[in-house]
Amino acid sequence: MNIIVTGGAGFIGSNFVYHMLNKYPDYRIICLDKLTYAGNLSTLEPVMSNPNFRFVKADICDKAAVDKLFEEEKPDIVVNFAAESHVDRSIENPQIFLETNIIGTSVLMDACRKYGIKRYHQVSTDEVYGDLPLDRPDLFFTENTPIHTSSPYSSSKAGADLLVLAYHRTYGLPVTISRCSNNYGPYHFPEKLIPLMIIRALHDESLPVYGDGLNVRDWLYVEDHCKAIDLIIHNGKVGEVYNVGGHNEMANIDIVKLILKELGKSEDLITYVTDRAGHDRRYAIDPTKIHNDLGWLPETKFADGIVKTIKWYLENESWWQPIISGEYMDYYQKMYGDK
Ligand code: NAD
Ligand code: DAU
Repeated sequence: MNIIVTGGAGFIGSNFVYHMLNKYPDYRIICLDKLTYAGNLSTLEPVMSNPNFRFVKADICDKAAVDKLFEEEKPDIVVNFAAESHVDRSIENPQIFLETNIIGTSVLMDACRKYGIKRYHQVSTDEVYGDLPLDRPDLFFTENTPIHTSSPYSSSKAGADLLVLAYHRTYGLPVTISRCSNNYGPYHFPEKLIPLMIIRALHDESLPVYGDGLNVRDWLYVEDHCKAIDLIIHNGKVGEVYNVGGHNEMANIDIVKLILKELGKSEDLITYVTDRAGHDRRYAIDPTKIHNDLGWLPETKFADGIVKTIKWYLENESWWQPIISGEYMDYYQKMYGDK
């Protein structure tokens, strides 16, 4: 089995590359990644010499490069993780989100049509459903919840999802889509809540909590997401959408306090800052379909996963230290300077 994994040098994609190489020693995994600010080749260093692994630096929007790779590798499956993924950046500059997340998806699917494919899998997000109110804990996102987006990021992901389903209906492309909740774990880029707070707390720096800190996210350990995608590409039904989430809702402020407690740091580091524009209030996934149809259940409890994650950041400073210098500092100053 030849599998092209796009965005495999990023957070979830790299965890997926490791999961697949470990679980299927006879599969060939080809990682196609543009290595944007969020892609990091050092993450994949341990597998670079694995004969079943190949890394190709390319942009999913580059039709010639994508076609060349398909001709060379004749993939059976494509799993598309490649995306601009950070909501705050999409508010600053929507354009690149439309290019990578929508045009890039169409380029990949056109190659799938041209060269033939057993499965195209689109890694999507629960953010396509918009948000839920805090005072209705009985409400959850199901696969039938209407698309109703808030940010340029989620709109670009929703646009891509619609295109994927259109390619299935119009051209018969064998597609599946997963819509997952917030992931956490190793190799998470330190612009996102959990790694940002861990690293800033370690340096005794202020922890910028948006708004009132009561926004709720539904956290899933990244390995559980990878296992869900593995199940979907092997056993999922073509043309279907699967929601992925572990019923683990937490308010941002509680996550931040938990991190401070684990690190033995003072809550005085918490600083409430101006809210994110259009900030979604609550995400909560109903994972009944993937559980009933494919037998998926999350395996890592949040209490264990967050301790494992903090430990990983403590032990892997050599991974994040180079990231948080230079360009990243400019980013932090630009995004948080006026907040
Ligand atoms: P990430 O930002 O950590 O990684 C994205 C990767 O894609 C990087 O390696 C980057 O170099 C690569 N990339 C970006 N533009 C590219 C392009 N034009 N061509 C080729 N490669 C390109 O993202 P992530 O958090 O790992 O998210 C991966 C996917 O999962 C995204 O599609 C995202 O929408 C989705 N998702 C993320 C979460 C989450 O909590 N992080 C939850 C649900 C869904
Ligand atoms: O739900 C899935 C989505 O989760 C993915 O599709 C996105 O790619 C991924 O980035 C993530 O989006 P969020 O916006 O939920 O993640 P983020 O880590 O940016 O923020 C989590 C929450 O924490 C959110 O309510 C905003 C808040 N926050 C974030 C940052 C970076 C803060 O309060 N302070 C911060 O500095």
